[in-house]
Amino acid sequence: MKSDFINIVFFTGAGMSAESGVPTYRGKGGIWHEYKWEEYACQNAFDNNPQIVLDFHELRRIEALKCNPHSGHFRMSEIESKKDKTYIITQNIDGMHQRAASKNVIELHGSLWRMKCQSEKIIIDDKNFGKYSSRYCKCGNILRPDIVWFKDMLDEYTIKKATEVIINADLFISIGTSALVWPAAGYANLAKDNGAYMIEINPHNTELSTIYDKIIRKKASEGLEYLVNEGYFN
Ligand code: APR
Repeated sequence: MKSDFINIVFFTGAGMSAESGVPTYRGKGGIWHEYKWEEYACQNAFDNNPQIVLDFHELRRIEALKCNPHSGHFRMSEIESKKDKTYIITQNIDGMHQRAASKNVIELHGSLWRMKCQSEKIIIDDKNFGKYSSRYCKCGNILRPDIVWFKDMLDEYTIKKATEVIINADLFISIGTSALVWPAAGYANLAKDNGAYMIEINPHNTELSTIYDKIIRKKASEGLEYLVNEGYFN
């Protein structure tokens, strides 16, 4: 087994946060079973009824704060402090990786902890935990969460950075994503095409399982512990 990996990419999805108690999107108890994304997670819904969309996201913030990073999150930040070319590309918006002290975090789908003024084109950090500090920008415009909703384009700079990191990866570890939403599928294939050793940690089969060199059918924290013990990050 190879252990001299330098450029390591962790690609995480909702399953990474599931062990912390944050619900996934599509699995049992998934958010999109309870809420229709068409009513809560797209620009159209926000344009029609911004307050309802903001209520929904405020609830996501409150729920995220009831949860804490688990040992897997901390394992990843330890690996990053030992191997500084380690990056986490996450689809999660809950900020859990940063709460576990990870620094090289690329948030593909934005963050619950940032707001955006669509009129002034500015991003505002809003770490006033739980409730939003304000639902309105100083200019008077209503703020929207800085989240990539359904039908939104991904941020260009974020894609560029993620693509760069993936092309250079010699180890790509997907953790807890159903790999159904673009760019999950594209990124894993890009890493593989560029020669990365591919590992999937997920208790269940995914659409992309067949492309991986090694599959670990465990929960995120257990899978990471296993890889650490096997010496993958020595
Ligand atoms: N450890 C690892 N994986 C887990 C765990 C766990 N403890 N629990 C569940 N999983 C796996 C499930 O088997 C599933 O494959 O996590 C995955 C969660 O899939 P989704 O709910 O589809 O979440 P994700 O892939 O992150 O969704 C991508 O879709 O709804 C949009 O923008 C939203 O970022 C989200 C994106």
